[in-house]
Amino acid sequence: MLELQAVHKKFGGLHAVNDVSFSVNEGTIKSVIGPNGAGKTTLFNLIAGNLPPTDGTILFQGKAIQGRKPHQVAARGMARTFQNIKLFHGMTALECVMVGCHTQSKAGFISGMLNTPFARKEEKAIRQRSMELLQLLEIEEFAEVEATSLAFGQQRAVELARALALNPRLLLLDEPAAGLNIYETAEISRLICKIREMGVTVLLVEHDMSLVMEISDEVVVLCFGEKIAEDTPENIQQNPEVIRIYLGEDE
Ligand SMILES: Nc1ncnc2c1ncn2[C@@H]1O[C@H](COP(=O)(O)OP(=O)(O)O)[C@@H](O)[C@H]1O
Ligand SMILES: [Mg+2]
Repeated sequence: MLELQAVHKKFGGLHAVNDVSFSVNEGTIKSVIGPNGAGKTTLFNLIAGNLPPTDGTILFQGKAIQGRKPHQVAARGMARTFQNIKLFHGMTALECVMVGCHTQSKAGFISGMLNTPFARKEEKAIRQRSMELLQLLEIEEFAEVEATSLAFGQQRAVELARALALNPRLLLLDEPAAGLNIYETAEISRLICKIREMGVTVLLVEHDMSLVMEISDEVVVLCFGEKIAEDTPENIQQNPEVIRIYLGEDE
């Protein structure tokens, strides 16, 4: 689904991502972990087209995408969520998801303005599809509630629904459990597994170790921009270098 080959990103003299290679197999959940400043968010920005890499190749479904713009990458079937929740003020949960669907709509801007029968029919379909996504993420009861007034865990679920509105083949999640309590984290963990069961491949950056170890098929460990380990969750937990980094962080 995704393959990184010797990907590199420099900010001035800083190697934020240094010669990183790994791949993500279709239908799996892969996680990227590492201490703060390890380069995790930068890596996501390179994959999703928010930043161009300094060097290296990124293949998505077999095609090179490095340096493409975010909307071009999204159109090929990749969606993402952000470390800080980005929902629109003054919009209901349903409307937030409908905005996600609209980026895929066929009726043009003019057609929408003129409220043609085609645009009206499409609007209805989008509303229905958005409701289905809210149901899938088990937050349909909040459809008409202003999204930014919801509890944090529910806002995360709205974000997931909005990302799924793009019909992605690959979903990038940047710290989905950030700011959530243990109950909300358990919920998100379950929802991410549900998304994988729908056939969507997931690449996740996360600080919460228990979440990562519970749901990942494979884990990549970054430290100062470099990949220092890539293995199953069981083996990563036994890896002496990984243990050293995380114990060092606790000190
Ligand atoms: N836009 C930027 N300009 C300059 N330096 C940046 C930029 N974004 C991130 N960095 C630096 O790159 C390193 C990796 O950051 P980041 O990818 O946010 O790490 P993580 O998400 O793992 O905490 C850090 O040293 C950070 O300060
Ligand atoms: Mg980050």
